[in-house]
Amino acid sequence: MQKNMEKVCVIGLGYVGFPLAVLCSINGYEVYGFDKDEKKLARIEKGENIVEEKYLDELLPKAKINVIRDESQMKDCDIFIIAVPTPVDEKYYPDLSYVISASVTVAKNMKKGSLVIVESTINPGVCEEFVRPAFEKEGFTVGQDVFIAHCPERINPGDPKWNVSNIPRVVGSFDEQGLEKSVKFYESIVGAKIMPMKTIREAEAVKIMENSFRDINIAFVNELAKSFNLMDIDVVNVIRGASTKPFAFMAHWPSCGVGGHCIPVDPYYLIEKAKENDFDHQFLRVARAINNGMPLYSVELLQDELNSLGKSLKGAKIGLLGVSYKANVGDLRESPALKIIELLEKHGAVLNIYDPFIPKLSNANNVEEVLDRSEAIFLATGHDEFLKIPVEKFKEHGIGLIVDGMNCLDKDKLLALGIKYKGIGR
Ligand SMILES: NC(=O)c1ccc[n+]([C@@H]2O[C@H](COP(=O)([O-])OP(=O)(O)OC[C@H]3O[C@@H](n4cnc5c(N)ncnc54)[C@H](O)[C@@H]3O)[C@@H](O)[C@H]2O)c1
Repeated sequence: MQKNMEKVCVIGLGYVGFPLAVLCSINGYEVYGFDKDEKKLARIEKGENIVEEKYLDELLPKAKINVIRDESQMKDCDIFIIAVPTPVDEKYYPDLSYVISASVTVAKNMKKGSLVIVESTINPGVCEEFVRPAFEKEGFTVGQDVFIAHCPERINPGDPKWNVSNIPRVVGSFDEQGLEKSVKFYESIVGAKIMPMKTIREAEAVKIMENSFRDINIAFVNELAKSFNLMDIDVVNVIRGASTKPFAFMAHWPSCGVGGHCIPVDPYYLIEKAKENDFDHQFLRVARAINNGMPLYSVELLQDELNSLGKSLKGAKIGLLGVSYKANVGDLRESPALKIIELLEKHGAVLNIYDPFIPKLSNANNVEEVLDRSEAIFLATGHDEFLKIPVEKFKEHGIGLIVDGMNCLDKDKLLALGIKYKGIGR
């Protein structure tokens, strides 16, 4: 690999920053990594794959990330990538404090002429209103002393095909030089199209649009699931049917809730920003409300089904399979299962919880233990391990009812065995 002369510093070594740092290193850059989480830094120093992405196992031995704890050690770097969290608070209000603090850190420590790229997901206007001022406050002129760009990250954790090295990117900057430098940088590490955007605001808007698109479409099928359920129509079969149309339809799937750091969070960034212009994003608000309501809807399904068997949720022994927000990953952020646990506990259910990726929230050691101790199952995450459970096993363990929050179990086989099955819209 040809050595790149520029030094890259990644600020925030999480799901986004860590793979990116690895990618820069294997593409010949000297890479520095800064994070406020000491435990994470220590694990990176030991060479651990801290985000558990399989494709990184192969790359990590070839990569070198120079962990830095002292901010002044970034001073020799040429390219800074900000990949810090952009969450919402308990009232769903955007929290930009991490982006602001990371921008201030870079502004206080960088040398003139550096390129600063924000990869965190942000609403249109954040680079102008919060990132740029941090550099101007330190006396830098944007487009001359510092070049600022935004390249929204698009990774999809756990995806076997698409990762940081092959997903096309869009990039925006305040000026021509910033745009040129950032496009050149991404072309040197990503084997896919890098599309320059006319403005930095457009680049910011792209990511919010992508994730809002997902949220709205998921809300639509969640609403269909509730409606079709009342008509005794299996929504999954309907979506499969609609998917045979080769154009103008894209399948989205209903479930017990939407989790992760992106889909249930990013639309709020646009909702709040638009309010400044007296614009109300009704569509986005409705989608958020529908998706936020799915854990409660799913728990009510379980309650109704138990009632129909002459049982109540209070005191019922419920096996909860899966806690993470997504299949085969250990990420708990905004996971619907957390709300489901809260609701079930509030109703007095006795929970037997197992998630192979989240031992700290599991009170059972394996599926077998959950089935042994439970009368009904609530499946909240479609981990491969759960999909492999032979349906007969549920019967053998006396499970009378399954609520399949991910619509991933074999409904027909379970029903044929005399087990009551309820999915989301099926
Ligand atoms: N996780 C995803 O799948 C994904 C996908 C696309 C985009 N994004 C976006 O990327 C951004 C980062 O997400 P993530 O999932 O990697 O988050 P993360 O929590 O996994 O990682 C962020 C890291 O930043 C560190 N950090 C916070 N403030 C800091 C500071 N001031 N200086 C240095 N380090 C700091 C944290 O300790 C943490 O390790 C968010 O804006 C998110 O919306 C995430």
